[in-house]
Order: sequence, then structure tokens, then C-alpha cells
Amino acid sequence: MPTDATPRSPQRDSLPPSPFPTDDPILKQIGNTPMVSYPGLEGERLLCKLESENPTRSMKDRIAMGILTEALQAGAYDTVVEASSGNTAGAVALVANRLGVPCKLTCPEGTSPHKIGYMKAFGAEVHTCPDVDSDHPDHYRAVARRLADEEGAFLVDQYHNESNPEVHYRWTGPELWAQAGAEMTHLVSAMGTGGLLSGSARYVQEQAEQAGRDVTVVGVDAERSNISTAFYGEEPVPYDTCVEGLGKGGDLPTMWFDYIDEMRDVPDERAFQQARTAAQEHGMPIGPSAGAALSVGLDISRAQPDARVVTIICDGGEQYFDTLFDV
Ligand SMILES: Cc1ncc(COP(=O)(O)O)c(C=O)c1O
Repeated sequence: MPTDATPRSPQRDSLPPSPFPTDDPILKQIGNTPMVSYPGLEGERLLCKLESENPTRSMKDRIAMGILTEALQAGAYDTVVEASSGNTAGAVALVANRLGVPCKLTCPEGTSPHKIGYMKAFGAEVHTCPDVDSDHPDHYRAVARRLADEEGAFLVDQYHNESNPEVHYRWTGPELWAQAGAEMTHLVSAMGTGGLLSGSARYVQEQAEQAGRDVTVVGVDAERSNISTAFYGEEPVPYDTCVEGLGKGGDLPTMWFDYIDEMRDVPDERAFQQARTAAQEHGMPIGPSAGAALSVGLDISRAQPDARVVTIICDGGEQYFDTLFDV
């Protein structure tokens, strides 16, 4: 009998091939992530897709890989630019490093030293910008646009680039379906740009429809964040969450609401508590946004014992060790 923590089958050697093949020994490690059953629940009822196993410990390695390799093939560019205070920055820095393309990243003051560390470690040039309103010319996204214009550089622009959900449609979705399609009843993930869940959900919903089945797709947001309010057509609330990665609004080309069935909001305290429990009691270091998604996965699993819930673990807990006990 497999134990609760036994990796599920099919695993890495039999997943669909990456749509972005490479001979690079580091880039080859992106994707093809394992799925394990959550050790905190009896039986194989709650499955976790460990995107924390990517080289920079998040699923953003996939979009950096997909977007940059295709942009490089489509046209010559000398430099890559992105605005990010989060996982995307480290992922873009790593992929640009391996592709041999100089990389410039902008981030707001207050970005965690750990994340800036990732950017610099992979050789990116980091521009820290004042923490001003998004319409200010010194806002980090405006500075990135300016840098890209001035240098004729490629701007990744994860919030407006539809290649973001497309990469997940072509890559993460097929892996999810190969690993759990036969039994999956629910797919749950946190949403920021929406790229991860939108693309994955579209693939999963299409396959489920072909198989004559239903998969319920559940997006996860913070209580004081505005993806849920956009989804349900409600008034926005003042944005105030400590959970990194959850989005500010839903009016984005990367947010494909058509493939999402419902949104659930999780208080910050619960997201952090769930991330602590996953590490302390079950040996799974995960980030707070994954904690939020996991707590929703657990709610569904407990309420519906016959459900087979797949939760995406967006990133690992290592980079939050210094803040995980603060909230
Ligand atoms: C830690 C974390 N969780 C969740 C998300 C949301 O992923 P997506 O932007 O694909 O919706 C992000 C995105 O930045 C993230 O960094």
C-alpha cells in the first residue's frame, strides 16, 4: 500500500514532454513537477502539485522559460526587462542568465532582500524604485516600460502578456491532467495575474468536457484583495494583504474568468497558519499563497469526502522563513 506521502503516478519520467524543449542542463529542470497526496488528510483525497520543485522554487520559472525562449526565437533582442517584486523576477533572472541575455529588473522599495538576492545572484541588474502610486512616472512598472523603450529591450509584462496563461495552458495543464485527470473533481489555486490557474483550468476543463465529466475550478484570493470582487462583479475593497502573489484586480488579459467556476477568500492569518502547519506537522515548506489554496483544498475535501481535489502549491516556504511566524 502506498503511504499518504508516496508520490503519485505517473511521475516525472512519464509526463507529457515540455512544449519548450531545451538541452540546457539547468533549464531542463523547469516543469515536470511532482504531485503528492497531502499527508495531513487520510487517503489520497487532496493532491498537491509541487511547483515549489522548480529551480527558483516557484511556478514562475515556467512563464519565464516559455515567454523568453519564444520571444528569442521570434526576434532578436539584446536585453530582457521585467517589473516584479516577486517570484517572476528571480525566474526571469535565471532564464535570461541561461539564455545568455542581459536582464534588468525593477522592483519597489521594500521588496524582500531574499527576492532581490535571487535577482542579483543570477546576474540581473536591479533598479529599486520609490514606493509611489501606480500612475507615477517613478513607479516600478513605469520605470520598466521606460527602460525597455529606451533600450529596445523585450518587456516580459506578465500582467498584460497573454503568453502567461498560454504557457500554463500548454505546459502545466497537461501535466495536471496526466497526473490526476482520471480522478480530479476540483482544481484549486491562488490567483495573482491569474495566469497559472487560467491556463491550467482551460486545459483541464477542455479535457474533462471531452471525457464527459466536470471539474470544478476554484480560484483563491485574500479577503482584502480584488480578484473575487471582480469575479463576482462587486465593489472593490481597499487592497490590504500580507500574502504575496495574490492579485489586486481582475481586469487583466491574463485572467480568463471563463474557466473559473468560483472564488473563495482566505484571511491572511489562515493562509500563514496553513503554511506553518504544512511545514511543522507535515514536512512541506510552502509559501502563504499556497497556504491559502491548501486551506481551501482542505475545506472542499472535508465537506465532500468523495472529492479528489488538486491544489497547486505555487511556491516553496524557504523564502518566507523570516516572515512566516509574523502573521
Ligand atoms: C507566491 C505566489 N503565489 C501565487 C501567485 C499567483 O500566480 P499567477 O500570477 O499565475 O496568478 C503568484 C504570482 O505572482 C505568486 O508569486
